[in-house]
Amino acid sequence: MKTDFTRPCVKDLEAYKVIPPDYDIILNANENPYDFPENLKKELGDAIMNTSLNRYPDPSATALRQELADYVGINADQIICGCGSDEIMSMLNQTFINPGDTVISHDPSFSMYQIWSIIGGANFIWVPDKDDLYPDVEKIINTAKLKDAKMIYLCSPNNPTGSLLPRHDVIDILEETNALVILDEAYIEFNKEGDLTDIVNTYNNVIVLRTLSKAFGLAGIRCGYAVGPKPLIDMMYKVKSPYNLNKLTQAAALIALKHRDELLKRVEVLNRERHRLYETLKTYPGVTRIYPTASNFIYFEVKDGAPAYAALLDAGILVKYLKHDLSDDCDHFRLTVGKPEENDAVLKILKRSLS
Ligand SMILES: Cc1ncc(COP(=O)(O)O)c(C=O)c1O
Repeated sequence: MKTDFTRPCVKDLEAYKVIPPDYDIILNANENPYDFPENLKKELGDAIMNTSLNRYPDPSATALRQELADYVGINADQIICGCGSDEIMSMLNQTFINPGDTVISHDPSFSMYQIWSIIGGANFIWVPDKDDLYPDVEKIINTAKLKDAKMIYLCSPNNPTGSLLPRHDVIDILEETNALVILDEAYIEFNKEGDLTDIVNTYNNVIVLRTLSKAFGLAGIRCGYAVGPKPLIDMMYKVKSPYNLNKLTQAAALIALKHRDELLKRVEVLNRERHRLYETLKTYPGVTRIYPTASNFIYFEVKDGAPAYAALLDAGILVKYLKHDLSDDCDHFRLTVGKPEENDAVLKILKRSLS
């Protein structure tokens, strides 16, 4: 009897692993340390009381897209929502990628670009960053030309390095390749001047991804969105599962956007804390390299990170510890910016371990 039903491209994949967040201080997933404020949770409770849960949600999230349109400054019919930007990446695959197509991104960047591409049967290529961990734009363009890339993922600010892509670099990639460029701006609220969403009205080969999981502090509700030229967004609607965004998510997202001034004030606190963490970590002798960041996390290099990582775990603190192929002789940490007292606790341990 046949039992081997799995597609070969899926067989070799490893399921996305998440360390259970059983720690006092969680700084490993670039989440916002501040929960949805109580007054807004109450408003959400009222909204739920007035919602009929026996009925399907609005499949096109009309009210939410209208509010997003107002927030982003783009027409509502150029926006599509998903269960996190992760689901949007899956839709991108289903809409634009044929098995055998080439998708590229730069390394290091967000691992899901590769995973979704492989699931879509694409050939995925990581183009290594330059020595300073800034994307090698020329190499990205040349690789895209050489491999006739169908899609290029760019991430700005980039996870995990925090680097921001200037407009001219993105435009070079848009103009010099035949690829559909996906610009992931998951963390853009931490550096609003870097926002390039408006290019979707100038170029017809770009889609921008955004999320409420980071600066808005709503990773738990799963709401991401894509902004793009209407013809591309129209095509994505053809693959969207009809009721992908449930009523509770739509209600919470709507409340968050209506109160965005209040919620996004916390970005200022986090950016100040980022600066403090960066300046302090820089002074630790064990930190061999630290990268300028435009986001709510800091990427830095140490010779051997294992003792520091163990000390942090012992103290109930979870951070992201990465060994990276680019530099075999050192380790990296990606530290999410937390509340001031959480950052104090991390610095106390790191000072001891890295001095
Ligand atoms: C660069 C980047 N894009 C997208 C995502 C996924 O975000 P979402 O919660 O909207 O699925 C993440 C999550 O960490 C991320 O780092």
